[in-house]
Amino acid sequence: MNRITINQIKRFKKASTPFATITAYDYTSSQIVDSLGFPLILVGDSAAMVVFGMDTTIPIDMDEMLFLVKSVTTGAKRSLVVADMPFMSYQPSVELAVINAGRFLKESNAQAVKIEGGSNHIKKIEAIIKSGIPVMGHIGLLPQSINQMSGYKIQGKSKSDANKIKEDALAIENSGAFAIVLEGIPSDLALDITQSISIPTIGIGAGPHCDGQIQVYHDILGIYSDFSPKHAKKYGDLNKEIKKSLGQYKKEVELKKFPEKQHFV
Ligand code: KIV
Repeated sequence: MNRITINQIKRFKKASTPFATITAYDYTSSQIVDSLGFPLILVGDSAAMVVFGMDTTIPIDMDEMLFLVKSVTTGAKRSLVVADMPFMSYQPSVELAVINAGRFLKESNAQAVKIEGGSNHIKKIEAIIKSGIPVMGHIGLLPQSINQMSGYKIQGKSKSDANKIKEDALAIENSGAFAIVLEGIPSDLALDITQSISIPTIGIGAGPHCDGQIQVYHDILGIYSDFSPKHAKKYGDLNKEIKKSLGQYKKEVELKKFPEKQHFV
């Protein structure tokens, strides 16, 4: 089975076909996502929080991300796998950005990378693309910059902030990126950006007008219990289900009901 290409992702917009994308962080979950036909999997740096239990996405590093991306690309045979570049893996210089983006392709078999930020990182995005590595942009609410943004707040509410985010979108499109994540911005701004650029917008907390949507696996399945973002609809309550199943197992062992005859020789 052929893997989805960036051109196929771009075609969703041309065909006005809405598409769903999702994060994944390990072999088993990426296998499930892949089997359902999701065209794109993001190995997000949200792993810092939902996998490693860190307070923010800031502490996760390249080695931790490379390890997770490798397990996802092993499980996903058809979905395009995008590796999220962690904080400080690209900010310091163009050269570092290219080297670290390249590591995701060479060492973890990813097909593309994602970078948070707009006009301030255009030179890095261009250099990565020139090296043959597809880039997905990410603008609006930038979790790696929460200290600068004074928290997880909707961005682009004022006219001038909205204009700046739109300029960033246009600059990212011009740099050759194949898609842009719009996170935490008003839906009318997301609509304006979506109508103004030729590459797909993929929204998270940006309303219904984006070309595609992205959500965090643990949020929509109800696995992560520390925090539930407003933009995430819970399609399941796996936290409860897992607790129920594990509780049953524990009880059966304690009551000597497990293992049963068919479980041993
Ligand atoms: O890290 C992540 O999961 C992300 C998505 C929320 C877009 O950046």
